[in-house]
Amino acid sequence: MSESDLTVRGFKIFKEFLVGEAQTQLVGEVRKIVTAAPMFSPLTPYGKPMSVQMTSAGRLGWFADRLGYRYQATHPNGQAWPEIPDAVLQVWTEVTGLDRSPDCCLINFYHPNARMGLHQDKDEVDFDWPVVSISLGDDGLFRIGGTARKDPTESIWLKSGDVVVMGGEARLAYHGIDRIRGGSSTLLSNGGRLNLTLRVVAL
Ligand code: SIN
Ligand code: FE2
Repeated sequence: MSESDLTVRGFKIFKEFLVGEAQTQLVGEVRKIVTAAPMFSPLTPYGKPMSVQMTSAGRLGWFADRLGYRYQATHPNGQAWPEIPDAVLQVWTEVTGLDRSPDCCLINFYHPNARMGLHQDKDEVDFDWPVVSISLGDDGLFRIGGTARKDPTESIWLKSGDVVVMGGEARLAYHGIDRIRGGSSTLLSNGGRLNLTLRVVAL
């Protein structure tokens, strides 16, 4: 980790882990994935569309509808998800040092008025594996809590190129995105924020 990096309640935050061309390259990879597997707005169990748009790459992709949250092997259009790009896998390897590759790269797109409520990532089978998050585009206000919903929270701005590792005590900690600072980055031509999360889903 470098001097500007920090750890907040077990969340390891690598500030600007990706800079310049590395960010542009990842955006290009995301565009290819979205062309093959278009973004959609999953429904919450209450039947309301989420404000965040999503798609996935990898063996399994995340999906939600009235039946609940789950991983599935195909996009809602019935096709297999695209492969996770090497440049994304490389970030996973660099920050975790793990030999095991992630099964899923969930891609979230936030319009400046989108948000993601406080939640735990617990649809995976084994919580010993970390979740790695890569942020691109506009700044997002990331709220970090504890393993109980009522635990106190603190917030930090995630900027384009920041990478977060949620492992150990942070793996089942509540987290969410309260707001996006629209226009804070010029990386995405139409604005907004992309977040990629890499997850080991199954055994
Ligand atoms: C997530 O919790 O799935 C996404 C977090 C983020 O957008 O930074
Ligand atoms: Fe999450």
